[in-house]
Parts: sequence; C-alpha cells; structure tokens
Amino acid sequence: MIPQETIEQIREAADIVQVIGEFLRLKKRGRNYLALCPFHTEKTPSFNVSPDKQIFHCFGCGKGGNLFTFLMEHEKMSFVEAVQFLAKKTNITIKEDNQSDYKKDLIDKLNFANLTALEYFQKVLHTKKYTTILEKYLKTTRNINSEAIEHFKLGLAGEEWDGLINYAKKKDISSDILDKAGLVLFSDKTKKHFDRFRQRLMIPIMNLSGRPIAFGGRTLKKGEPAKYMNSPETTLYSKSNVLYGLNLAKDDIRDSNAVYIVEGYFDVISLWQIGIKNVVASSGTAFTSQQARLLARFAETAYLLFDSDSAGRAAALRSVDSLYDAGLEVKIIQPIAGEDPDTIAKKYGKDKIEQMMQEAIGFIQFRVVDIDIEKSGIIGKEKLIKEFVSIGMKINDPTRRSLFFADAAERLNTSPQIFLQSVSKKESDQEVVSHRQKRHSKIEISLLSLLFSNPNNIESIFERISTDDFDSKQLSRLYSAIIQLYKTNGKIDARQMIDNTTDLEFISLITEVANQEWKPDQIDDEISNFVTLFIAEKRKRQIQKLHIELAQAESEGNQQRADIILDEIKSLSKNA
Ligand code: CTP
Ligand code: MN
Repeated sequence: MIPQETIEQIREAADIVQVIGEFLRLKKRGRNYLALCPFHTEKTPSFNVSPDKQIFHCFGCGKGGNLFTFLMEHEKMSFVEAVQFLAKKTNITIKEDNQSDYKKDLIDKLNFANLTALEYFQKVLHTKKYTTILEKYLKTTRNINSEAIEHFKLGLAGEEWDGLINYAKKKDISSDILDKAGLVLFSDKTKKHFDRFRQRLMIPIMNLSGRPIAFGGRTLKKGEPAKYMNSPETTLYSKSNVLYGLNLAKDDIRDSNAVYIVEGYFDVISLWQIGIKNVVASSGTAFTSQQARLLARFAETAYLLFDSDSAGRAAALRSVDSLYDAGLEVKIIQPIAGEDPDTIAKKYGKDKIEQMMQEAIGFIQFRVVDIDIEKSGIIGKEKLIKEFVSIGMKINDPTRRSLFFADAAERLNTSPQIFLQSVSKKESDQEVVSHRQKRHSKIEISLLSLLFSNPNNIESIFERISTDDFDSKQLSRLYSAIIQLYKTNGKIDARQMIDNTTDLEFISLITEVANQEWKPDQIDDEISNFVTLFIAEKRKRQIQKLHIELAQAESEGNQQRADIILDEIKSLSKNA
C-alpha cells in the first residue's frame, strides 16, 4: 500500500525522457523527442515524448500515456511495480502505510475491509469447529492440498449471521464500510446488517497487485440453488476488468507467452496443483475486451479450455472476438465429454492436459466442425464466411490475417478472394464512419492544448467557454476534465489526468492534444487568438444549423417560424 503523496512525489521527480531513453532510442526534435514506436511497427518515427508535459503519444497508432503507463504497457509492470521502479530511480523511499493509516479515505477503508475479511475467512477455515470441511470436503472430496489452499488463500464463511461483522468491529470497521465493500447485506426486517456470505467456501479475488477486492463463495449445502455467490460490483471491484488468478499467474503467463483460459475458480486451482500455472478464469461469463487487453499485455497466445457442455462451448465462442481484437492468437482445446478442467487435471494429470494443448485447434477448424458444413450446406457456409470475415478483420497483423483467411478459404473450400473482398468493403465503410467521427476541429484541439500549458488567464476562459460549446463530444469531455482538474489542483497536469482514468481511448486523446507544442512566450497571445476563432467557429455552426431549420420552415410554409429564425441568423451574423 503506497501512500498517495509518495506516488505524487515520484511522479514529479521522475523524468520521462531519461527513463524512456533507457528503452528506446530517442532523438531530439524541437522541444520534444521522437522514436520508433514500440507499440506498432513503423519505419518513420511517430512516437513523441514531451519533456514539458511528461507524456508520450504516438501519432501513428494513437497510444499515449505518462511514465507509469509506459512502464506498465512496455515493461508489463503493474502500477505498483512501476511506482517502485521509479522510486529507485528517483531515490525516494516508499514508506508503506501501517494499519492505522489505512483509514484515510474510502478506497483505503475498503481495501482494509477486504483484507480483514480475507484474514477472517482464512481463520475460520482453520478452526476446530470446521475441521470436517477442511479435511473431508476440501482436502479429500475436492482433492485440494494445503499448499494450494495457502497459495489461493482459500477461506470459509461459517454459519454465523454476524461473524465477519463482529470480527471487523474489533478492527474499527463499520458495517457501512462492509456494506460498501459488498461483504454484508441489510435486513429490512431487523434493520440490521448481516454477513453476505455464510456456509460457503470463500475464494478471494485479487487485483493485479495481489490485493483482495472481491470474493467468490461456493455453497457447502447440497441442493442450494445458488452454487456460487459473488461479491457485487464495488468501488474496488469491476467484474469486467478482473480475471481470476491473473495476479498469481502473470509471471508464468509472461514466461510461457501463453495463457490458459478456463471457466471456474476450481479449474485454476486444480491446474496449479498439478503444475500448470499460466491459467486464469473468466468466471463463467463472456470475456470482455478489457480482460482480453489485460491478457495481451502478458502473452501472445490464449488457449481456451472450457467445460464440455454447451454453455462452455457458447462461452468459448463469445470470447474469441475480443481475444482476436486484443491481438492474441486463439487456440481451442477440445474438451473431454462430461469433464471440466478441474476433473481432467485430477483424473488424468499434467501430461494429458499438455497433450490436449498440443492438439488444440484453431478457431476456424473449431467452427467448421461445430457447424458441420457437410450437413448445413450453403447456408452454413455463408454464415461461417460472415463470421470469419468479422473475426479476421480484428486481426491487425497483416501476415497473421492473411494466414487466417487462407485457412478459412481452404476449410470452406472457397477462394480467399471472397474474404478479402468483404473485408475491404467493410473496412472502407468503417473508415467513412470513423473519419466522420474523428475529424475534430483544429481550433478546438488547439485551444485545449493551450490550456495544458497553464496560461495565465485560464479562469476567464472557463467563464467564456462552456463544455456545451464544443462540437466534438470527446473534446467536450476533455474540456470538463480540464476544468475539474483545475478546480481540485489549481493547475493542469496531463500526467495526473492520465492517472485519473483507465479509459485508453481517452488517454490517447489527452496525450494527442497535450502533445502539441507551443512557444512558451507566445501562449497568452495564442490563447486569445484561439478563443476568438473558437467563438467564431461555434457561431458559424449555429448559423449553419439555423439555415437548415429555415429551409425546413419555408418548405412547410411556416412563415412565422421562418421569420423568427431569420432574425436569429441576422443577430448572430451581426455579432460576428
Ligand atoms: N459461476 C458463478 N455463479 C454461478 C455459477 C458459476 O459465478 N451461479 C462462475 C464461477 O466463477 C465458477 C464458474 O462460473 O467457478 C464456472 O462454473 P461451474 O463450472 O458451474 O463451477 P465450478 O468452478 O466448476 O465449480 P464446482 O467444481 O464446485 O462445481
Ligand atoms: Mn466447472
């Protein structure tokens, strides 16, 4: 747990040019530095590092961020690792917070609540009262050894309605905080909180730095309809961003450049126990694009090892899209009927799983077999062609993409041309759309980028220009983030704005805009110039819109309305 002040101190002290310079060959160009972008292949450098703003932005692929982001993306560090790395470089000692300091703000309180719950569940599992559950159920029936129980920090929620509540009370954690952490529920009848998890085996879910942020609870009662009960979404826990087991598996995933994706908690645990450690669980839902991008930071190939039932197959299918989109190569392991990876691991062992991995098939083959085109004929073929086009388009690497389509053509017994034609048609359609969306006004961009240089009269600009005055929604969002940051900090620091968000597209926009260069002594002149241009452009847009409305009113024969609009146009034009 690193205190916020220390993070800020390190952010201030570290120099982006110096640190990135250790990884890339930087050339000075104007005030900024240029390099070949490490995040996409290019021949002419478009990766731009700004020493003034302490950010980078690639004008080729759009990737951008601050020094923390760079280390996380390029060196695959976690946020904490990046902070620790920079602490060494800047000679700043990190004093870990002790428990009393935990209580500073809500996030810290929630973290402490989860840590305490973890400790409590682990304790309960090892009490005499529940020996049978530990020895008979967990170790014997489920065949999970002590080492795995320790490694995955498994625990137990007992029978009590207020076991955790009382344990937490001793540590000064209120029921309100337990509620916000998703650990208790409120009873309308008794008007009191009670433990959310009871009579369940507790599986803690950690974030990438290994801190517990949620729990999965497996029932111990036969016939209980809800086999699993999981923590709700909280300030700390967003289901779509987290993969079970990634914190423990990430080094093995990086080392093997491959990751097994399974469905269940116990699949992860059992595979670990037989020595297969590069495994994460999707926790039974479709894979989100954030989860896929997270994995792509550590490996190039994803092996889907799902349950053999139809739900498992459907989940596998729904996951490939985002995996390909994140740049991963996808392999599907054919399941053994009636088994899930947990039981395969236990019945057949490591060699079997490794053999299954060797025999893993590509997505195309998987679908062709699944749909059985012999039987489904032309309709099935057509369906698959569409499906393969849409998946193949997600593959960015040109070689890999052509191989994908060549394979698809061969297996469907058609020509690769069919695929290439549909792709180029679809891509040109998309380009039209994205150009329309992306063409931000140069004036709006320039004005915002000047704000990142902290001009003197910044507050008067906030008074003159409102967030609604922007044509582009994204730029309007950036403008309100600028105002917000100024209100809390009294200055605009792009680095800090980046740390306030996890939205990669927004980060890319921040760095694109903030990276524009201005001569320091001309900033105040430029800004008054651009404010004037901005207002003129906005007025021009209003007038254009009114002209459209005017034409419509006239075509409807509504003269009264037409006159009103005409007056508005005149008064707007006069002020121009
Ligand atoms: N899951 C869930 N809620 C459910 C059922 C399943 O959250 N009601 C999630 C859990 O993460 C679970 C995964 O989906 O681990 C896979 O479900 P399933 O195969 O039913 O569970 P197993 O992990 O195989 O559990 P067990 O071996 O105890 O039956
Ligand atoms: Mn299962």
